[in-house]
Amino acid sequence: MNHELSETAVAAALTTRWLGHMYQYLPQTYSTNDLLKEKLDHLSRPPLPEGAVVLADYQSQGRGRLNRRWAAPPRTSLLFSVFLRPRWLPWQQNWLTMLAGVAVAEVIEAKTGLTTGLKWPNDVMALHEGQWRKVSGLLLEGIWTAAPSQDVILGIGINVNIPPDQLPQTITPPISLLAAMGKPVPRLDLLLDLLRRLEDGYGRAQQGYSPQPTWRQRLITLGQPVQVTKIGSGQIIIGFAEDVDDWGQLLVRDKSGILHTILAGDVTLRG
Ligand code: BTN
Repeated sequence: MNHELSETAVAAALTTRWLGHMYQYLPQTYSTNDLLKEKLDHLSRPPLPEGAVVLADYQSQGRGRLNRRWAAPPRTSLLFSVFLRPRWLPWQQNWLTMLAGVAVAEVIEAKTGLTTGLKWPNDVMALHEGQWRKVSGLLLEGIWTAAPSQDVILGIGINVNIPPDQLPQTITPPISLLAAMGKPVPRLDLLLDLLRRLEDGYGRAQQGYSPQPTWRQRLITLGQPVQVTKIGSGQIIIGFAEDVDDWGQLLVRDKSGILHTILAGDVTLRG
């Protein structure tokens, strides 16, 4: 296969110790998260190793958080999922979101020079003409097995070379690296560097070092007026995003002075 992101191209240049050593490239699929989940459900033989990666050049049913669609024209993006089995306690569950968001933000900055930030909880934003725009999103999904387990699928979508006129219509205004830079960005290089950063960040977290301080520093949400819809109750909170706690929950103070602690929600910046 002679694709830019083919198995041969990745294997020839991968510098990780374990992440991505099992790598599958597909010209198209429905959703790499769903495909990986199915592979795990069907107890593939031999079992999938931690760090297995599935990448597609097109997804017909790409999914975002909150059942939103994640759309990208063929061969323009990075759309992939990683299988991980973190060995840590339940209260550390948001660490993966944090370290993955930081890894994506850092790799984009390193490869393009764009200024990046994170919109709570897991949107990666790039500053373009003075406005923050969404360039990447993360979709973390736990896998339900008979035995209690912490198996996780980390799905990452990055708008790399989507032409400006083909950017999807999304609630948070989108951008691609191509649209922001005015020139295409090589996807293989970006992918390989990202896999290395993910492996490093994950390794540090597995040793007990919290990614929270680095993640917190990059949050553009803090200090902003926000509207948050809480997942589950649907309650809407309008206030000021004061901080995040050690576990990644957002602390929003409303106008009557009450501090709300939000574990999962959808945030709109009102500033
Ligand atoms: C979001 O911002 O809401 C999360 C977007 C996650 C998109 C990625 S693309 C690869 C993987 N497969 C999917 O169907 N979704 C994730």
